[in-house]
Amino acid sequence: MEPDSGFAGGGFSGGGFPQRRMRRLRYHPSVRRMVRDVTLDPARLILPLFVRSEPGMREAIPSMPGHFQLGVDLVGEEVREAAALGIGGLIFFGIPPHKDAVGSDSLDDDGVVQQAVRTARQAAAEMLLVTDVCFCEYTDHGHCGPIVERDGVKDVDNDATLALLGRQAVSHARAGADMVAPSGMMDGMVGAIRAALDSEGFTHLPIMSYAAKYASAYYGPFRDAAESTPQFGDRRTYQMDPAADVGQALREVELDVAEGADIVMVKPALAYLDVISRVRQAFPGVPLAAYNVSGEYAMIKAAAERGWIDERQVVLESLTAITRAGASIILTYWAKDVARWLNA
Ligand code: PBG
Ligand code: ZN
Repeated sequence: MEPDSGFAGGGFSGGGFPQRRMRRLRYHPSVRRMVRDVTLDPARLILPLFVRSEPGMREAIPSMPGHFQLGVDLVGEEVREAAALGIGGLIFFGIPPHKDAVGSDSLDDDGVVQQAVRTARQAAAEMLLVTDVCFCEYTDHGHCGPIVERDGVKDVDNDATLALLGRQAVSHARAGADMVAPSGMMDGMVGAIRAALDSEGFTHLPIMSYAAKYASAYYGPFRDAAESTPQFGDRRTYQMDPAADVGQALREVELDVAEGADIVMVKPALAYLDVISRVRQAFPGVPLAAYNVSGEYAMIKAAAERGWIDERQVVLESLTAITRAGASIILTYWAKDVARWLNA
């Protein structure tokens, strides 16, 4: 063994114990804070909201305690509360009064999300209002675009979906959305939406793309909340395979950035921290969001309700991990709680 020179290789100073004592960085709380790298900020959180057209409705979502299907008229109060807490933004998911094969409500300037955005804007002029751009909540079959049958097999028609996505995004923009977030994993969706927005004068509106979105069982509670469970099959022909090489996620991100995505997202978050980390490293200049999804929320809520874990600590630790992995924006159902905890 070499005697301790005080310097090890690779730029690390110091040898081993007893000269090196990592605990010196941990004795004083101020030192602990100074050597911290990750700090959470409510301004980087986006709160998802589920909206319905039925006035006065406030229907609890059983698998997502603390979340509701909200009547559009009740959106204002929610938005004012989020604004007062300093939350970065809101993302809207609509549950329409009528579903059909193409998801018409989502294209209607008076559709449920469009109404919600207008109400939200009235309540808080400055609040960042994001809309999820997809069809699964609006179609009677529950898939993320219209269906085509090829050789007796039904699947989402990719290219037919693109034109409709453009129309939906433009309608959201007209209602006053500040940013659109396509979540359907259609090839070419970002380019199609960019072109549609630009041709209608919304050249300034950013696109946050769900770029690497996996076919995940962690979306279960969301599908209860949004009533968007596929009526046949699953989403594996468009969402990513969790077992695929991370390189595939990098290609998805690369394509979305090339098509004009301003922010890219990895989803879910906690089981995909490696993907977040790799995307962060491969695309250092591209703002990265992560979606802390409904199943992640439900698991922690359920354990906390039983008194098995401390919700506040586990949530802050989870969001810290997502941030440490490389996400700077987090979509989370805990946004209001986290803001209260951080402000306390
Ligand atoms: C719809 C969409 C989903 C989520 C966000 N947008 C669900 C899905 O793909 O079925 C999931 C969010 C969550 O689980 O919290 N395209
Ligand atoms: Zn969808």
